[in-house]
Amino acid sequence: ILNKIFDIRAILDEMRVRKDSAEIKIMKEAAKISSMAHKTVMECTKSGMWEYEVEAQLLYQFHIKGAPSPAYTSIVASGKNACILHYIENNSRLKKGELLLIDAGCELQGYASDITRTFPIGESFRGPQKEVYELVLEAQMHAINSISKGHSYNKPHESAIKTLSEGFVHLGLCKGPVDAVIEKQEYLKFYMHGTGHWLGMDVHDVGSYKIKDQWRTFEEGMVLTVEPGCYIRPSKDVPKHFWNIGIRIEDDVVVKKNGCEVITADTPKSIKEIEEFRKKAYD
Ligand code: GLY
Ligand code: MN
Ligand code: MN
Repeated sequence: ILNKIFDIRAILDEMRVRKDSAEIKIMKEAAKISSMAHKTVMECTKSGMWEYEVEAQLLYQFHIKGAPSPAYTSIVASGKNACILHYIENNSRLKKGELLLIDAGCELQGYASDITRTFPIGESFRGPQKEVYELVLEAQMHAINSISKGHSYNKPHESAIKTLSEGFVHLGLCKGPVDAVIEKQEYLKFYMHGTGHWLGMDVHDVGSYKIKDQWRTFEEGMVLTVEPGCYIRPSKDVPKHFWNIGIRIEDDVVVKKNGCEVITADTPKSIKEIEEFRKKAYD
């Protein structure tokens, strides 16, 4: 009898990797709700508040917009906490001059969304924060631009690593040449996670990334995140003005025939847009 039991998990997982139009419609709605919640906290968070107050505001916004649950425990990490990858204590007080990293997304009708934004707790980015932010943003843009039907799953990661490694050398965080930083994986000191994952009924959704040891290629309707970052812990080899800067920028994309669609694009991302939102908090 045991011979007749057939394991359908691999088949179901594979079905979940490509989303149909009804699923994509729900995922776009989930992305929209999460994006609205990020915008609300971006325009009302002030120094002196606690990280858990920001988390509560995010959950409240998800709920009143029609998504009662988060897709995962929200990360609200100010200052040095942003350098702890899975920080969920959310119990520190927000200080002007520091950055706030928020990784939060709602679940809607069983589908997840997953957004990270990093913004200044005051009204504007400081010099070194701005330099690192621009670098992560550039890495994310290149990663997003590398996603299209037929491209290798690993292309966005390779693209992010290349941009970040160039930037790390330029900023004096790593010693060049850039090829050696990539070859010897010296970038791992500041960028130690992948650039994305499948997104769907789970936040880290099921489905393989490789087929027979080879990276699989993107197909239309696949949904994934694009989330490069940079996390700089205090270290004698690193200029002090970069210490404790932790930045991640994360969007959700749907693979298309020519390129991809960023379904979380409503969430402010450029320094100019973010600083406009931050001004509102102190008006
Ligand atoms: N929010 C979980 C992740 O970004 O992977
Ligand atoms: Mn993610
Ligand atoms: Mn995330």
